[in-house]
Amino acid sequence: MTLRGKNILLGVSAGIAAFKIPQLIRLLKKEGAYVQVILTPGAKDFVTPLTLSTVSKNPVFSEFYRENGQWNNHVSFALWADCFVLAPATMNTLAKMTNGICDNLLMATYFSLKNKPCFFAPAMDLDMYKHFANQNNISKLKESGALELPAQKGELASGLEGIGRMMEPEEILENLRLYFEKQLPLQGKRCLVSAGPTRESIDPVRYIGNRSSGKMGVAIAQALRQKGAEVILVHGPIHKNLSLEGLKTISVTSAIEMDQAIQSIYDSCDLVVMAAAVADYRVDNIASQKIKKTKQNLTLNLVKNPDILAALGKKKKHQILVGFALETDNEVTNAHKKMKEKNLDFIVLNNPNHAGAAFDHDTNEVSLLFPDGEKMKISKTLKSEIAKTIVQQLEKLI
Ligand code: C5P
Repeated sequence: MTLRGKNILLGVSAGIAAFKIPQLIRLLKKEGAYVQVILTPGAKDFVTPLTLSTVSKNPVFSEFYRENGQWNNHVSFALWADCFVLAPATMNTLAKMTNGICDNLLMATYFSLKNKPCFFAPAMDLDMYKHFANQNNISKLKESGALELPAQKGELASGLEGIGRMMEPEEILENLRLYFEKQLPLQGKRCLVSAGPTRESIDPVRYIGNRSSGKMGVAIAQALRQKGAEVILVHGPIHKNLSLEGLKTISVTSAIEMDQAIQSIYDSCDLVVMAAAVADYRVDNIASQKIKKTKQNLTLNLVKNPDILAALGKKKKHQILVGFALETDNEVTNAHKKMKEKNLDFIVLNNPNHAGAAFDHDTNEVSLLFPDGEKMKISKTLKSEIAKTIVQQLEKLI
């Protein structure tokens, strides 16, 4: 997920490990990254440009000029890149990088990178790897801020055993993922999001519920996750087809269960968004057997559920706390009152009477209200887009 949309400039130099690069490209593509390959002229003996361009879904280059005479602009490759990965990194190419030797397209691109993150995965025979000249070059590169993807120990192409094998593509991918994950603005933040309805039992087969689908809460949880946060989603019975990938989840049914789950983790959270449509009342005495339809009228005695958000607001310390208000009349006044009473950092107001808004829809139309009176209206759009705007506001507060 962290590599989605990232521009990876992949340099390939002439080592036997180049045969593993199509696999690395496949893994990067699967993560949603864009890959541009530039080879050194010698690398073409180890892996074909056709293979690389097919898997990267992009033409690959190694010369300054194309056959039609067009110039391969190394500066625009460098500007395009979110990071540069040299794999395999041969002794020769590492030496050029540390000594400013710019005799091919790959090196011209490398020297144009400015401050882009640079990774290199050395791959060579063990004695070449250990040689002081190579070790000096690796040290110099690391001093310059480049990140080594260290060579591994094992059987080498020469038949010898030792350090010099290129890091496996899966591990290279993991290193890149971790790097970009650490750059995300909400990295290290623990967030709690509640979503969906609660169900309040009447008897073993019946319940009181509401029309909430959980779509808005799950969209917020996913938007937080995309910004690097650790997200715990406490959810009632939500739509089955919502993607919970990357989220820690606690599934509950009733308001009392939701309350218990949330209260038990609240202290350890930095940010809480209560998007759940918690039932305000529950049945006083839940029947242990199915209620028979013998009587003409049936009266259920309802008692108030705990207001989870109000309780969180009371014991709030370092947390950023956000709630939702679903109002059908006097919307802004009522929402402001709630924000104050529940001690919130802001409140998301929606109105179920607006077309395509609130319960069950993929879209919503909301206003964010802030304690200082500021109001931010978000016109009808996808819940995923609304979630992004909400998370932008949370980022500012955190
Ligand atoms: O007071 P009202 O129910 O309108 O407030 C809505 C906000 O409070 C929502 O964020 C909802 O998740 C939360 N809430 C709660 N516990 C309840 C009822 C609502 O935390 N029992």
